[in-house]
Amino acid sequence: MLTAHVITIFPDFFGSFLAHPLISKATDIDALSIRLHDLREYTHDNHRSVDDMPFGGGPGMVLMPGPLFEAVDDIREDGKIDRVILLTPQGRPLDQDVVAELSAAQSIALICGRYEGVDERVREHLATEEYSIGDYVLAGGELPAMVLLEAIVRLLPGVVGREESTFDESHSFAMLEYPQYTRPSKFRDWKVPKVLLSGDHQRIERWRARQSLLRTLTRRPDLVAGWRGICGAEELSARLQKALNDE
Ligand SMILES: C[S@@+](CC[C@H](N)C(=O)[O-])C[C@H]1O[C@@H](n2cnc3c(N)ncnc32)[C@H](O)[C@@H]1O
Repeated sequence: MLTAHVITIFPDFFGSFLAHPLISKATDIDALSIRLHDLREYTHDNHRSVDDMPFGGGPGMVLMPGPLFEAVDDIREDGKIDRVILLTPQGRPLDQDVVAELSAAQSIALICGRYEGVDERVREHLATEEYSIGDYVLAGGELPAMVLLEAIVRLLPGVVGREESTFDESHSFAMLEYPQYTRPSKFRDWKVPKVLLSGDHQRIERWRARQSLLRTLTRRPDLVAGWRGICGAEELSARLQKALNDE
């Protein structure tokens, strides 16, 4: 089971997220436990202050190191934390490889920043890694934490059923998924590709492999550059080879 500790000044943000069927299924089957920690519980003044002005001046406030270190120490008293993750727009871009790696951890702690961010000593001496969900700036780390958690949860055993496999998806093998269609087979003037209605599974598999390849080459040439040596490259080339041999 993965235990995810979330340290935030807005634990209420997570209410509807925790109630979502995907997350509640993961907790019901003991694949996941999410523990919310209100950063203000780790303060010692009447105002329950978690932030202060930046040394050297400048706009905004910065989350102080004290409450964040105390929160992580307190969580550690109850058990080990494998990875302490700081959500920050300055971090390593989050991708499916990172998500897969994190889904294998036993326990992680997520630090949600706010205001101008967190005191640099948190980054240097508390966080074991830093992730960004994209090259834009949000007001806080709560949405990035939910993004990361939802991506992880989908990979936990037993959470996503066979009917919604995570195996073939975009980014599983540094590839984008093939196009998907559903009923009706003709909508307005647009027909579903004939091959998908043929019932010939080998042809369908070949068509999908080709579409997947084509999409990746045209939309995300940057992924192609990383194909060599990626995890899953063997599986990918075996599948493409099979599709070509069957042709
Ligand atoms: C307004 S941002 C601080 C930005 C910081 N002053 C900077 O320029 O790097 C406040 C908090 O939101 C979170 N955040 C904002 N954008 C993010 C992103 N793209 N990825 C992950 N976390 C983000 C971080 O936790 C950050 O500490």
